[in-house]
Amino acid sequence: MKGERFKKEILEPCAFLVRPMTGGDLEVVATIEAENSSPWAIGQLASELAQEGGWQFVAEASASGLVCGFVCGRSCVGEAELLKIAVGREHRRQGIAAQLVAHTLRSLAAQGVARCFLELRAGNLPALALYERFGFHRLGLRKDYYALPAEDAILMEKRVLADA
Ligand SMILES: CC(C)(COP(=O)(O)OP(=O)(O)OC[C@H]1O[C@@H](n2cnc3c(N)ncnc32)[C@H](O)[C@@H]1OP(=O)(O)O)[C@@H](O)C(=O)NCCC(=O)NCCS
Repeated sequence: MKGERFKKEILEPCAFLVRPMTGGDLEVVATIEAENSSPWAIGQLASELAQEGGWQFVAEASASGLVCGFVCGRSCVGEAELLKIAVGREHRRQGIAAQLVAHTLRSLAAQGVARCFLELRAGNLPALALYERFGFHRLGLRKDYYALPAEDAILMEKRVLADA
């Protein structure tokens, strides 16, 4: 077990690379997105690619080139919102989302973005743990913000430049 962890973390540190999303990624990104609640359709994902101030990255397996996860959001006058992050079910718990968030935060800091906001379903404990690990803190709760199923939203913020 210890040996396996060493192999994963030390010998294969670059199993995934993060790069900008392109139109050619949309089909696989839409498939990953469709596994989650309130998914965006491929058309919405495509329009994000054309969005002014938008940023979109994918995590790709270095060996196979397979896109395993993505993140997207928008920046405007020093503030950003992380809109979506998802990793394909079979690729979770391998550090892919952590790599996507780390890359996003570095990129936002390089653009001079001071604060990044996001919201998530209150019951989404994996995502909550992920964001807390990267220093996002809770700003508030939006009661019954989500539908199908109805659920509160937790609003979170991270001071990007202060922590860069
Ligand atoms: C949330 C999500 C993106 C995490 O992706 P992932 O690649 O599995 O996450 P990672 O392996 O990079 O884990 C990074 C950290 O996230 C947290 N985390 C991830 N999955 C977790 C789980 N099932 N339970 C608890 N914590 C979890 C942990 O803090 C973890 O750090 P650790 O490995 O040191 O414990 C993934 O579960 C997902 O795609 N969920 C569906 C979409 C979604 O909910 N998106 C967020 C909407 S706001």
